[in-house]
Amino acid sequence: MNKKDKFEALVCRTRAIVDSGGSSRIKLEHICELFRDSLPGYDWVGFYLIDPSAKDELVLGPYVGAPTDHVRIPFGKGICGRAASELKTIVVGDVCAESNYLSCSVDVKSEIVVPIFKNKKLIGEIDIDSHVVNSFDNEDKGFLERVAEITMDLVEDLVKES
Ligand code: SME
Repeated sequence: MNKKDKFEALVCRTRAIVDSGGSSRIKLEHICELFRDSLPGYDWVGFYLIDPSAKDELVLGPYVGAPTDHVRIPFGKGICGRAASELKTIVVGDVCAESNYLSCSVDVKSEIVVPIFKNKKLIGEIDIDSHVVNSFDNEDKGFLERVAEITMDLVEDLVKES
């Protein structure tokens, strides 16, 4: 299966998870697992959420992969914080060449962070780390931006619960 068809199939499976039973947190965990298990290079897959009780700060949400020290990230800090302040997807092909970067593990070589919006307001992010350099291209960006739209209601539920 080529990458385009694989992404189409995953969009369909992501929608099925969103429409299934269970809590929003469990559904987001299943989506993380699905991507980690289906896509080479998706080695750490997680969601960061806007913390409504803290100003301009992200808090770690559901994820799969190695535990991270970066449970809270201020806007502007690292790739996640930059995506939050610039309100756009950021792709880093080689994290070693990046000065504003928060390292989770020496194994991570490339990263993509995609903002999630609800009613044009930032509510969270999808963050993917890869153990291979240059893992993410425009097709990954397009796929994950669709996933951000499909999962926005689940993410909003978690933001409201916090
Ligand atoms: N590398 C990220 C921090 C989060 S971890 O990848 C899970 C960053 O620079 O913002």
